[in-house]
Amino acid sequence: MARAFNFSAGPATLPLEVLQQVQQDLVDYKGAGMSVMEMSHRGKDYAPIHEEAKANFKELCGLGDDYDVLFIQGGGSMQFAMIPMNFLGAGQTADYANMGTWSGKALKEGQKVAALRGATANCVANCAKDIPTRMPFDGEWKFSDNAVYTHICTNETISGAQIKKLPDVKGPLFADMSSDILGIDRDFTKFDLFYAGAQKNLGPAGMAVVAIRKELAAKGSEAIPTLLQYRTHLDNDSMFNTPPTFSIYIFGEVMKWVKRMGKENLFRLNDEKAKKLYDVIDSTGFYRGTALPEFRSNMNVTFRLPSEDLEKRFVEEAKALGMSSLKGHRSVGGIRATIYNAFPMEGVDALVAFMKEFERKNG
Ligand SMILES: Cc1ncc(COP(=O)(O)O)c(C=O)c1O
Repeated sequence: MARAFNFSAGPATLPLEVLQQVQQDLVDYKGAGMSVMEMSHRGKDYAPIHEEAKANFKELCGLGDDYDVLFIQGGGSMQFAMIPMNFLGAGQTADYANMGTWSGKALKEGQKVAALRGATANCVANCAKDIPTRMPFDGEWKFSDNAVYTHICTNETISGAQIKKLPDVKGPLFADMSSDILGIDRDFTKFDLFYAGAQKNLGPAGMAVVAIRKELAAKGSEAIPTLLQYRTHLDNDSMFNTPPTFSIYIFGEVMKWVKRMGKENLFRLNDEKAKKLYDVIDSTGFYRGTALPEFRSNMNVTFRLPSEDLEKRFVEEAKALGMSSLKGHRSVGGIRATIYNAFPMEGVDALVAFMKEFERKNG
């Protein structure tokens, strides 16, 4: 078996143990005589998979009965649209931080819905285009008086900037946590709604995992299509229509793995993995980190080399050594090493050794 060290930002590497478990269960899930892929989502074999996955996620996030967890197709991007469709009514204002590509896309969707309804999607801080990349500084936030919600992105996957200290928001706080959910210690109860495309830190592609305060879901618009209302998913335990059962099953296996590993242990390992890479970046002037040090992500480590030509060679030579997907996002270039929970320390050590050697030969 030859597993690459897969630095992809998503779909991303999954825990090997989980893949092996899935392989073992693939054609006959625990004596059911069929794969999870083939089971009715309303049958007795699937029900515990669904419920346990939700319960473990809630436990890991420290959420009580006032929250529910929803599995919604359409990925993180669909949440950009569903949020304003549900919660931004005529004459109302929602606050959005524009902190990078992804929160910028969320703002755009908010503005579209606002334009249709005579509402306002207000930009409360804008550092999306700043180089070095970063999150808003404390004094920069200009909140509205009566925002129905404030939307942020906790980790900008492309820029490699991560929010370390949450802004002091008066109203409901919503967050896109696609690329750092359960990868860093956060108090999830500070958020009224948070979501993540599953394909990064949680499982395979195919859905977003959404945590929402139940009372909030009940306040959403009823004038939009049924499937786009959070209440529909909440009232039907994410089974109003056929849910992505196989993705939910693997997500559930990943949650069990996180519990076995211990989330605090994973947070510590993530910081250690990131530090090893940032230490090489900072050791000489050859590599240049793209994010301001105080906002450096412990999930997506972004950096540049002295030239694009060297960056191209860096990616190619690393690939030949079994380290894949180190190319930065096509919109920004450079190098991005993504090191989510399931990314092994040995892969980071291999990259560190390669970076040192590449600099020695080309510096
Ligand atoms: C922070 C963040 N939000 C949203 C998305 C969009 O997710 P999806 O592709 O699931 O729509 C991504 C995808 O990479 C992301 O990194």
